[in-house]
Amino acid sequence: MSAPQLWISTTNQGKLNEFRNLIGGSVDIHSVGELANYYPPPENGQTFTDNARIKAKTLKALKPGAWVIADDSGLEVDGLGGLPGVHSARYAGPKASDGENVAKLLKMVQIRSAANRKAQFRCVLVAYDPAGVEHVVEGVVTGTIATSAKGKGGFGYDPVFIPEGKEQTFSELGIAVKNQISHRAKAIRQFMSLIEQST
Ligand code: IMP
Repeated sequence: MSAPQLWISTTNQGKLNEFRNLIGGSVDIHSVGELANYYPPPENGQTFTDNARIKAKTLKALKPGAWVIADDSGLEVDGLGGLPGVHSARYAGPKASDGENVAKLLKMVQIRSAANRKAQFRCVLVAYDPAGVEHVVEGVVTGTIATSAKGKGGFGYDPVFIPEGKEQTFSELGIAVKNQISHRAKAIRQFMSLIEQST
């Protein structure tokens, strides 16, 4: 039997690498980067699930009959009332770089929540199977915000997130360790068992 085809709604290379690593070779993976007629929809939902659903539905319209999946994810800092949350990609402004977002986060935690640095990454995946049925799965990894950026690997807030039980940031720990424990890894493992059940 041929490998099921899966279309992923992200152009974020860091996320795509993680998807490819975590899903492996049993699935024929494609991304929206290959589609000339794909235009990213506005991510104006109130929750990760809303935004993942918006992206997954846009892709489903272009690829009916295939598995499609969209990820929406972000960092929630307890002492900042859950911010940056759904605003993680644009925390320091609409076109902010990862470095600018990290700098703003460190500053806000220092001002508002220096004594309580607890945080979690959350990842929601919304998928549609070839019959058009929706599936929603979620993964969370808890940890703390470091006092400064450390390490070179990964993307986004990886240089400032220390997962619970470890002493280094996701950037320092590297992709192999991150892929065992991350929010995205947990969500993708649940998604993979859905695909396996259906094939
Ligand atoms: P999205 O593309 O709208 O889901 O934006 C997610 C944003 O959350 C990213 O741009 C990062 O800033 C942050 N983020 C999500 N997952 C991770 C991760 O695994 N590591 C670091 N930052 C992440």
